[in-house]
Amino acid sequence: CGIIARIGRGNAAETLLTGLENLEYRGYDSAGIAVQNGSGVKVHKCSGEVSELKSQLEARPNGNMGIGHTRWSTHGPPTDENAHPHTDTVGDVAVVHNGVIDNYDELKADLRSKGHEFESDTDTEVIPHLIDEYRRETGDTETAVRKAVSTLEGSYAIAAIVDGEEAVYAARKGSPLVLGLDDDEWFLASDVPAFLDYTDEVIYLEEGDLVVLEPDSYRITDLEGTPVERSSDTVDWDPEDAGKGEFDHYMLKEIYNQPSSLSNTIEGRANDGEVTFENLTEGTFSDVDAVQFVACGTSYHAAMYGGQLLRSAGVRTEVLRASEYESTTGPVDENTLVVAVTQSGETADTLEAVREATSRGARSLAVTNVVGSTAARTADDAVYIRAGPEVGVAATKTYSSQAVTLALLTQQIASDVPGGEPAADKAKLLESLRDLPEHVEEVLESSQAEAIARERLDSQSYFFIGHGLGHSVALEGALKFKEITYEHAEGFASGQLKHGPLALVTDETPIFAVYSGRGDEKTKTNAIEARSRGAPIVAVGPDDHSLADAADTHLSVPDTHPVWAGLLANVQLQLVSYHAAKLLERPIDKPRNLAKSVTVE
Ligand code: G6P
Repeated sequence: CGIIARIGRGNAAETLLTGLENLEYRGYDSAGIAVQNGSGVKVHKCSGEVSELKSQLEARPNGNMGIGHTRWSTHGPPTDENAHPHTDTVGDVAVVHNGVIDNYDELKADLRSKGHEFESDTDTEVIPHLIDEYRRETGDTETAVRKAVSTLEGSYAIAAIVDGEEAVYAARKGSPLVLGLDDDEWFLASDVPAFLDYTDEVIYLEEGDLVVLEPDSYRITDLEGTPVERSSDTVDWDPEDAGKGEFDHYMLKEIYNQPSSLSNTIEGRANDGEVTFENLTEGTFSDVDAVQFVACGTSYHAAMYGGQLLRSAGVRTEVLRASEYESTTGPVDENTLVVAVTQSGETADTLEAVREATSRGARSLAVTNVVGSTAARTADDAVYIRAGPEVGVAATKTYSSQAVTLALLTQQIASDVPGGEPAADKAKLLESLRDLPEHVEEVLESSQAEAIARERLDSQSYFFIGHGLGHSVALEGALKFKEITYEHAEGFASGQLKHGPLALVTDETPIFAVYSGRGDEKTKTNAIEARSRGAPIVAVGPDDHSLADAADTHLSVPDTHPVWAGLLANVQLQLVSYHAAKLLERPIDKPRNLAKSVTVE
């Protein structure tokens, strides 16, 4: 979910609605705002996207302050009643919330026994009722908010407004909240793009912070009420970056942004044959003897990519699905480094895996795109992938930047860890990395992905195979395809095709065979096996590679170092998915049932 709040001069409604549109990547099944203007708190909300809310609001409600929410359902289906903001029984207190309240059942029962009436199935609704209860008890709203959030178990970022008060109250624990500072207005939001059109000066709030915004001042305290100092940062994101520009979809824009986002990722990190990360000194990993990557979704595929490189550099490495961490991890101790790979830095499964690993003594490192995200704050160290904001739910440019960052990181880890062996051809590897942005540009300029997507559009299933590094690319290709086309797609290690999936292969199951730089003879053999059963084969790799001989059609990538080849193949597969989804008229940037940032386990 995404939340926003604004207080200042002039009307708040339009700003809140724009902010919500910029936050829709966090969820878009319901939306709502509440404003207050001296004649009470007015709530407008409905199921559906922000555009639906806008069209229902014939005139923009008046009021210089307000809160807003775009929802991705956790408790209760996406209905008008379950949309945020929620209020107390009489409607004096309105609250928006991102997170999950674990003890809402008991709180609700207790509040009901005191006469509170509830209208929704949500966990959130207990919050305005609690605030109302404590306001009556203490006579002071700030104290009431403090008491209310102290009662909550679980995670939250909340913003609240109260009838007759020129203030916005907010607090965070476990869900992100950023304060935006402009000359004559203040903002609070789940993420910076919400208010980037207005200001680039931000304060990343910390766990346990409680904020009171008034028209001419703001104050931050901890949960005991002690004032805390938080310094402000200037973000260097261009507001243009947060819009679609000339592209039909954010996803396409983000695919085309990769030459530039990859340049940012690499900048200053691969110089003179050496890898340097601004905040990781040489030798920092010298007491590490095992590395565990934890991640979900696309980030998991990037982690597989990095994990394989690290393993082949002689370092004991596991790549674990964050949601399965507790039941799949091997022994962990203080010499274990757990690397959380998470674009948003807010994925609950991944954060929980890190908590579990650190509780067992592990050291932690976050590899993330979002400065100030929970992962970046809670891990011992953070490395940023510098891809810039990604809005499309299906991750594209962040995958490429993650894989490159992890490949570089593996070189540093392998240099530090006793027994680790950085790539024998490290200088060559880093040299060819410099060409990667240009190579991606070449792919984008000449890709035949649209024609191939069109040619194979009515197929029954889509298979993606690859070996070694190409295996993780095949998995990512299939994930992207199913996410945005809603067609059935699966990725396999090439050699596994004959151990079962081959039974599904017909002339209705195109197979994308991904070049992986090394061991491609296997993929070629497996592709030929499938082709002889009628499957159309699309080779994804360099022109002069033998894989192309086994294929019906070919998506070409420039020659490069084997470590980077898979990333170029992945760009081709991103385009195949995009064009197939477009031809099928799918809602590409907001696929059904998915959210970009899943902040619940
Ligand atoms: C969700 C998104 C995926 C994403 C995954 C991990 O499931 O729909 O696209 O890969 O979360 O997100 P993260 O922010 O941790 O990389």
